[in-house]
Amino acid sequence: MSTNPSAKAPDPLIEDVVVLKETIATLHARIVSLERSLEETQRERVEYLQNVAHQLVSPLNAIKWHIENLTNNRIGSVDRAQKVLRSIYSQSTIAVHLAKNFALMSNLEADHELGALQEPLEPVQLCRLLVNLADDFQPLGWDRGIQITVERNLDSTPDVLAIKPLINQVFSNIIENAIKYSSKNTTIMIDGKPLPKREAILITIANRGIPLPPTNKIPMIFARGFRSDAAKNAYPAGTGFGLYIAKKIIEIHKGEIGARTASDGRTIVEIILYIDKLRGMAQEWPKKQSS
Ligand SMILES: Nc1ncnc2c1ncn2[C@@H]1O[C@H](COP(=O)(O)OP(=O)(O)OP(=O)(O)O)[C@@H](O)[C@H]1O
Ligand SMILES: [Mg+2]
Repeated sequence: MSTNPSAKAPDPLIEDVVVLKETIATLHARIVSLERSLEETQRERVEYLQNVAHQLVSPLNAIKWHIENLTNNRIGSVDRAQKVLRSIYSQSTIAVHLAKNFALMSNLEADHELGALQEPLEPVQLCRLLVNLADDFQPLGWDRGIQITVERNLDSTPDVLAIKPLINQVFSNIIENAIKYSSKNTTIMIDGKPLPKREAILITIANRGIPLPPTNKIPMIFARGFRSDAAKNAYPAGTGFGLYIAKKIIEIHKGEIGARTASDGRTIVEIILYIDKLRGMAQEWPKKQSS
């Protein structure tokens, strides 16, 4: 092997400078991309805030307007008064639902781990929770002839260890979607069964109405801010945060959530919650009595 005596050995200083320049360029690109994603997140936050504020105004205005009519005796018959009261109830359900999602958004962005959340774990009777939610949301479906049924199977499912207000909000978001996106005169079916091998409970919420996106795009419905064109046309008001919040909560509970279109065209949302998987991972309620 011959060597060229006139060829200079590479200057280690120059090599270092080249490496440094490359590192600085990479860091610069990274900072620019972080800045962009920060701006994007802040823009989404502002949009979400404006959207929620805007959506909260409409049920609150409706409630105020109904109460004004009731107090000024502008409602003729008892029948009409009952309708007005039912509407007040529905509008309050919407307002409370929105406010709860709003409160959760800021919490969930910060705390991803169960132990970091303030609320304790407790045994949750899913059947009772779902029956209560079905009762709460049923008035929203009356105008369009939509019925919500909770199947009796659920009666016998064991309790799951979970943070109750969070799980309540998951099902509240899914049932609210089912009502919003159902066709007139249809039935929403809430069902469930134990999965003994996995020591878990499977809950399904099925409705018939506007379709989900095509199968390969279904995961998008759990992304922050996503709304399909069909959903926007059927129901212009919406933030696209409901299922994102639901997914985050289910992930915190180490459970699973998914959606699919059944062969008969219905939309099915499925949730798996583990009976006892979270024991020891956060404070529990009720606390054991010390003897
Ligand atoms: N039951 C359903 N049937 C058909 N499409 C659904 C159903 N549930 C959700 N989707 C689709 O998933 C999207 C995201 O749902 P998500 O609950 O996150 O937002 P949203 O309902 O549009 O708004 P928000 O919940 O904030 O009012 C919906 O816009 C719709 O396209
Ligand atoms: Mg929704």
